[in-house]
Amino acid sequence: MLHTLAISGYRSIRDLVLPLDRLTLVTGRNGTGKSSFYRALRLLAEVAQGRVIASLAAEGGLTSTLWAGPEKFSRALKQGEAPVEGLRRKDSVSLKLGFASEDYGYAIDLGMPKPPAGAFMLDPEIKAEAVWAGDVLSRRNVFASRAGPSVTALDPRGYREVITATMPPFESMMMHAADPKGLPELLHLRERMRSWRFYDHFRTDAEAPARRTRVGTRTPMLSADGGDLPAALQTIREIGDPDGLNAAIEDAFPGASLEVRSDNGRFELLMGQHGLLRALGPAELSDGTLRYLLLVAALLTPRPPELIVLNEPETSLHPDLLAPLARLIARAAKECQLVVVTHDDALKQALLAEDALHHELVKELGETLVPGAEELSWTWPSR
Ligand SMILES: Nc1ncnc2c1ncn2[C@@H]1O[C@H](COP(=O)(O)OP(=O)(O)OP(=O)(O)O)[C@@H](O)[C@H]1O
Ligand SMILES: [Mg+2]
Repeated sequence: MLHTLAISGYRSIRDLVLPLDRLTLVTGRNGTGKSSFYRALRLLAEVAQGRVIASLAAEGGLTSTLWAGPEKFSRALKQGEAPVEGLRRKDSVSLKLGFASEDYGYAIDLGMPKPPAGAFMLDPEIKAEAVWAGDVLSRRNVFASRAGPSVTALDPRGYREVITATMPPFESMMMHAADPKGLPELLHLRERMRSWRFYDHFRTDAEAPARRTRVGTRTPMLSADGGDLPAALQTIREIGDPDGLNAAIEDAFPGASLEVRSDNGRFELLMGQHGLLRALGPAELSDGTLRYLLLVAALLTPRPPELIVLNEPETSLHPDLLAPLARLIARAAKECQLVVVTHDDALKQALLAEDALHHELVKELGETLVPGAEELSWTWPSR
């Protein structure tokens, strides 16, 4: 389980170190930083996929995702006695992301290339990384670390050795140094990060992937676009928890039944509803019904990953479905760790009743803060 998440220099998040629990609820008014929180966590997962730099570029590049306020707020400024004005940056440009879990911690620091950077002047570079054992990074517990192109790691005898001095600035040591013979711990941690799942606004329009029929293959984890929904539901029936699936459907749509029809191996989802003479096909399900089924398939996965993150799962659900959704989330949190970002009050209340750890984001002088969150110690790797 991840117990600490740290984000620095990402959009409105100047510096946050937050505790995470089995079930963590993140709420806040519009513009307080919920989506930024979600995206920062997703960027961290993308490091393990080798995609972090491409994703940053897709968001407009590091310079646009960086915290746009001053590096520090003076007391006079906080009390409104001084204007917010740009000083020359003393620290270098830096976006930092990290987490600590029950066994290992990982952090990454991204920055801009040193001039002259040639044609790739907006291409961010990985400046530092570290993997450590325990809660907070220190000289004693660091397992593998990277500063610029140089990666140092503990060898089996406990000595630190430079394992490469030529790590490219656009590649994470999690991608390159995670060699099963050399550093099995890094490989293990990377595979765990790769298992993290992010679900954000499933499409439910007429052309949505979840409404198409396609060849069914065994699907232990629903894909991010939900295109394999019928296969994921059938997989839950065959190797997962079919009773839990039926109960989740009954809880939300009393009297309804779900059928996955295989037509020569092509799967189609059908839903029988109380009062109807025939079952409805995927094109006929309402947006809310389809979205609920997608969440059911995601949360009842027979192969729970280390972490599932849901961004505003309440979108287009009728208020009546929020209590069943909260029960589904609470049930899933017994199998894997969950973070739910929402701005719906009913879902928030229902999840609070399920004992979720709650972080309410607020914005002060443009900065995302979480008043009342437990203060945790944290150390970033040095460049
Ligand atoms: N580079 C940046 N530096 C500082 N603030 C930024 C930066 N980029 C975006 N912001 C601000 O961060 C705030 C948080 O945005 P975010 O999208 O995370 O809010 P949200 O809580 O998801 O809101 P909503 O409920 O409307 O979706 C916005 O007010 C935005 O203007
Ligand atoms: Mg948002």
